[in-house]
Amino acid sequence: MIEVTHLQKRFGQLLAVDDISFKIVPGEILGFLGPNGAGKSTTMKMLTGFLAPTMGKVSIWGCDIETDKLSAQKQIGYLPEGTPAYEEMTPRSFLDFIAEVRGYNKSERVERIAFVTEIMALESVLDQRIETLSKGFKRRVGLAQAIIHDPKVLVLDEPTDGLDPNQKYQVREMIRGLSKDKIVIISTHILEEIAAVCTRVAIISNGKIVSDCTPRELEEKSRYHQAVTLKVKVQEDLSKFAGRLNDLDVVRSVEKNEWELLVIPEHKDGSLLPAIANLVKEEDWQLAELFQEKGRLDEVFRSITEGGPHVGS
Ligand SMILES: Nc1ncnc2c1ncn2[C@@H]1O[C@H](COP(=O)(O)OP(=O)(O)O)[C@@H](O)[C@H]1O
Ligand SMILES: [Mg+2]
Repeated sequence: MIEVTHLQKRFGQLLAVDDISFKIVPGEILGFLGPNGAGKSTTMKMLTGFLAPTMGKVSIWGCDIETDKLSAQKQIGYLPEGTPAYEEMTPRSFLDFIAEVRGYNKSERVERIAFVTEIMALESVLDQRIETLSKGFKRRVGLAQAIIHDPKVLVLDEPTDGLDPNQKYQVREMIRGLSKDKIVIISTHILEEIAAVCTRVAIISNGKIVSDCTPRELEEKSRYHQAVTLKVKVQEDLSKFAGRLNDLDVVRSVEKNEWELLVIPEHKDGSLLPAIANLVKEEDWQLAELFQEKGRLDEVFRSITEGGPHVGS
């Protein structure tokens, strides 16, 4: 597993990473979520041994990243921000070079390249110069070099940044497929990514971890967790329905929009939806739609990182 204790990085006056501690166990996909400049990349560079911490320790399966760097780095695959690669090389020659650096002999290298080519679906571009590849393929080459030695730990800095929606989806599927017995750490400033791939999310703001929980727990912190929306068929019904809904004990408040009512629950115990469904049936209201929300991650994220309105129940 990975153990990070009191990790800190100072650049002159700036405390880019401010006393971060956490543990990660195999099978976890941890998302570092935070605005630009929060300290995600700096943390990842220290985890992978590319940057020395000002203070604190990183241990990768018992190997200290500073005092036992090579042993630690053997267990890590790293995709740095922006996927740097040797543009004039082809994926085949680049991957061969990386595998050689990782200590594989010629026949092992051929085998390893075949393995990652298959997983990352690189066959069609293996002998094309990297500079001529699309962003999606470049990213897959970056991922291929990160997993070529089948590392126990994968550190991926903004792996889907700048990709189109289809490419994002493909890269996420690949990450999900890889992660069964590994530790995967992903940084992102994209919220949807967290819910899509991560089992755990650490929100970083100004160099500190300000929240560490599952994506689901994050949604539960939302004011809109279990909120119910009713879309009406006749606009005049809005005020009438709103009045009756407001009378229910399980309702905290009702927000009116043009064609819909958003009902915020008083308690997050699942009691709102059945109560509303009952009322709708009793009163025989004609609705276009009725649905319950899981919660809004963007609202939770904003309130945690910007010190906005307090979240939680
Ligand atoms: N080598 C460096 N020298 C000085 N400041 C740096 C250096 N690297 C990063 N920073 C600063 O540290 C802060 C955190 O940066 P970074 O870790 O890249 O954030 P993120 O990846 O979350 O966007 C930023 O304010 C950034 O400008
Ligand atoms: Mg970054």
